[in-house]
Amino acid sequence: QRGGATMIPISAERAQPARAASTTLDQCRRCALWESATQAVPSAGPQTARIMLVGEQPGDQEDLAGLPFVGPAGAVLDQAMQEAGMARDSLYLTNAVKHFKWEARGKRRLHKTPAQREILACHGWLEEEIQRVKPQVIVALGSTALKSILQDGAVSMAPLIGTPVQHEGRWVVAVYHPSYVLRAPDAASRRQAYRVIVEGLRQALTLLQ
Ligand code: URA
Ligand code: SF4
Repeated sequence: QRGGATMIPISAERAQPARAASTTLDQCRRCALWESATQAVPSAGPQTARIMLVGEQPGDQEDLAGLPFVGPAGAVLDQAMQEAGMARDSLYLTNAVKHFKWEARGKRRLHKTPAQREILACHGWLEEEIQRVKPQVIVALGSTALKSILQDGAVSMAPLIGTPVQHEGRWVVAVYHPSYVLRAPDAASRRQAYRVIVEGLRQALTLLQ
């Protein structure tokens, strides 16, 4: 078994269909995260994009704006995309989990990593996006995205960095989450994490047919 032994593989349970009758994303109640979030944050970008970038979940600013990657992590991502020669408006940007999970720390809302059951609950929405957009390449920004995309709650990121894998007929490229660039313990790790993101985005471009 790879990675944490306590994780439950997503594939062990059946992912739920994306749309039960007329439920919209913002009306979704498949897990409890909607209760403390402002709104569900949908995707951004063309439905015909050949590259899909998948983040973890909206952050504080995304929760308020209703748009993905508009806060500090989005600024890191913008810089990496520019350096890789990727135009943001040509990509489909979305998240593995659509509602912001947080805990209060004074007046601030601090990001909390989604639990495996929440990744699983939200997987149907991501699956529906993948089936609709049919990207050639999916870039997983961080391990939450990777777990949902590969439907494997035990998958670990490190061995996949720099080594794209095929999954259900598409390339999956794994890179660190852009917010890791902001919170890595020292300057060398931050720089290295940023390089991994830029190289992953470049690799995604080279994998296009
Ligand atoms: N982090 C993410 O994973 N997604 C966002 O949309 C913003 C921050
Ligand atoms: Fe539904 Fe996902 Fe929001 Fe949970 S996080 S309520 S599964 S949209």
